[in-house]
Amino acid sequence: MPPLILAENITKSYGDLAVLKGVDFSLEVREFVAITGASGSGKSTLLHILAGLDQPDSGTLSFQGSPYPRSGSALERFRNQSLGLVFQFHHLMPELTALENILLPAAIAGTANAEATNRARTIAERLDVAHRLTHRPDELSGGEQQRIAIARALINQPQVVLADEPSGNLDRERSEELYHLLDEARTEWNVAVVVVTHADGLAARADRRLHLRDGRW
Ligand SMILES: Nc1ncnc2c1ncn2[C@@H]1O[C@H](COP(=O)(O)OP(=O)(O)OP(=O)(O)O)[C@@H](O)[C@H]1O
Ligand SMILES: [Mg+2]
Repeated sequence: MPPLILAENITKSYGDLAVLKGVDFSLEVREFVAITGASGSGKSTLLHILAGLDQPDSGTLSFQGSPYPRSGSALERFRNQSLGLVFQFHHLMPELTALENILLPAAIAGTANAEATNRARTIAERLDVAHRLTHRPDELSGGEQQRIAIARALINQPQVVLADEPSGNLDRERSEELYHLLDEARTEWNVAVVVVTHADGLAARADRRLHLRDGRW
């Protein structure tokens, strides 16, 4: 079976700043990979490329053996259906309730039906936030907001969750909590997880740890 994600010889520069200088990356089913590296080493740049949010200057990307879609709508569909993205908690939509936030990727896919709503409730129960679903993000704790963001990343049953952890803003306890939530997703929903993190503790728990330095591993 081909890897879920296979990226080969990825390069990316901003002007004369060469950020990624030929990075290879692969991700197996249910694997948990941590990407570490100093601030500015290109972790978010790589994650955005793996997420199809940004294009590399050169190199190839495939998902389950097929090249990433190039065109706008096919790429959107691929991202929406196969990838779950977890960014900082404030990327929740402030005017939507927690449940509406979780269902947003399903709404984009046109599948925000009763089945998706049931799935949202099940995921929220597993993540222990089911009792907060009618509340807006500003009425939730930081940890609850993170759980909602993770539920949102899982709603379309992706094969991969890509999480760019804002570890500068995370205390140790929050970081532990995040790890547990992602690990739960992995064991309960067979999701492969890629976490970008500064936190050594979080990275040490991964199956594989990749350290980015000078544009390479
Ligand atoms: N759009 C952009 N235009 C120009 N330079 C950029 C852009 N995005 C990122 N950079 C630069 O590319 C380098 C890598 O940035 P990136 O955000 O990937 O780092 P990072 O490893 O995620 O850092 P951090 O740990 O601080 O989040 C940095 O020097 C950054 O200033
Ligand atoms: Mg970053």
